Amino acid sequence: QIEMLKICCIGAGYVGGPTMAVIALKCPNIQVAVVDISVPRITAWNSDNLPIYEPGLDDVVKQCRGKNLFFSTDVEKHVCEADIVFVSVNTPTKTRGLGAGKAADLTYWESAARMIADVSKSDKIVVEKSTVPVKTAEAIEKILTHNSKGINFQILSNPEFLAEGTAIQDLFHPDRVLIGGRETPGGQKAIQTLKSVYAHWVPEENIITTNLWSAELSKLAANAFLAQRISSVNAMSALCEATGANVYQVAYAVGKDTRIGPKFLNASVGFGGSCFQKDILNLVYICECNGLPEVAEYWKQVIKINDYQKSRFVNRVVASMFNTVSNKKIAILGFAFKKDTGDTRETPAIDVCKGLLGDKACVSIYDPQVTEDQIQRDLTLNKFDWDHPIHLQPMSPTAVKQVAVVWDAYEATKGAHAICILTEWDEFKSLDYQRIYDNMQKPAFVFDGRNVVDLEKLREIGFIVYSIGKPLDAWLKDMPAIA
Ligand code: NAD
Ligand code: UDX
Repeated sequence: QIEMLKICCIGAGYVGGPTMAVIALKCPNIQVAVVDISVPRITAWNSDNLPIYEPGLDDVVKQCRGKNLFFSTDVEKHVCEADIVFVSVNTPTKTRGLGAGKAADLTYWESAARMIADVSKSDKIVVEKSTVPVKTAEAIEKILTHNSKGINFQILSNPEFLAEGTAIQDLFHPDRVLIGGRETPGGQKAIQTLKSVYAHWVPEENIITTNLWSAELSKLAANAFLAQRISSVNAMSALCEATGANVYQVAYAVGKDTRIGPKFLNASVGFGGSCFQKDILNLVYICECNGLPEVAEYWKQVIKINDYQKSRFVNRVVASMFNTVSNKKIAILGFAFKKDTGDTRETPAIDVCKGLLGDKACVSIYDPQVTEDQIQRDLTLNKFDWDHPIHLQPMSPTAVKQVAVVWDAYEATKGAHAICILTEWDEFKSLDYQRIYDNMQKPAFVFDGRNVVDLEKLREIGFIVYSIGKPLDAWLKDMPAIA
């Protein structure tokens, strides 16, 4: 009898958890262990309250957990037993030292690689699932081979393209699966082994195989291209407001060109999430290190426009409200970086709230999936400290007073001067805006950063409404925001 193939994934996060759950579901003949050094995370994965909110995830986990899907903190045991080890640890932006603020921090990756070399007693395929700088596989290979005790390691790059909020559907029906490996017989054999895992449910023609560097770089390139589309449409949104064009009409007309395509052209308060900014900064750094300053500068602009869009939004809010929001209550609807996730990493809401707080506003925040604790941490910690909890600072007393987190949109907006919609949660579309208006200070403002509300209907109720990239009403024209 052929032994069951064993997979171990190091890192039970937004990528490791859902990806492995889907592999376990689609491959009943493979045993999958997801391991992590974080005890609370693993405890949550083994409970009814999974550590991340992702539509459809509960169902997949319930079907496989305890059968061929296991979550454990016994990292070394499961790595030792596995034939294929995925590494899906976090690779945040470095906060200090060489390349600080740009380069990827590979500390977690390196320690995982050293541990693999330490505990392995049989040959293994080691798969880069984390997003890493191009050429990382070379470094990992060196760590593994210099510590290998005669064991053969094959390194593959298999970047993940899922988006949060739609992770399960993305994993069920990926546009493509990308596998990069060495062009040696051993490398090609490893590629085929990993390909056979995905072939359980992904059509063969959608599984692309490349060399290692192409696979690593394709991930950074894909995220840079996606983010660039958003910055392009957001740049247009500023021009639309200045000219009376409507960015949604422009995006529709532009996206009808089949060479451009309609997706990912929604103007917004800015892109967030743990990937886009980090991966572009990483790309910029790699370009600089390779003596390509013009290429670096080109991609940097995608981030600059994103920062511009966030501050443009804050300026619009403050300028519209007589140039001051001091002591005014501002309701923030939505804090997550997009709908259908509780993730707040790099969410534009952080920058918008900090901007408003800087102008002494009192913000009252409601998000259906983000906890108060998380919001308070996001607004009081310095960027990146979250990834480095050792530097946790106690919250300043003024911040506590200025920020309220409530569990209902009506509560958040009661007595408020303005509403800022920062996440496109479906429930914000069907709120009773008449009731909200009646309970607000007048003039009552809505600043829609996500194209959620029906502009005309709200104007009829009496709101002064700003929606990114749409024609401005007379009030907003009279109170121009200087970006
Ligand atoms: P995450 O922070 O949610 O999860 C990473 C996990 O790894 C954490 O639980 C951490 O405790 C664990 N970990 C760190 N070092 C470890 C070690 N030595 N041993 C065991 N566990 C360890 O991160 P994520 O969002 O899942 O991202 C993981 C990687 O995937 C990143 O490189 C990211 O760029 C990439 N990625 C993320 C997404 C996304 O949507 N979040 C999509 C595609 C790719
Ligand atoms: C992204 C990539 O899409 C995914 O392929 C990669 O694996 C990880 O990074 P994610 O960050 O989870 O996924 O979500 P995504 O849907 O890409 O949205 C990112 C940000 O861009 C969100 O803040 C979203 O609101 C914003 N966005 C997206 C826009 O502002 N306009 C759009 O048209 C699309």
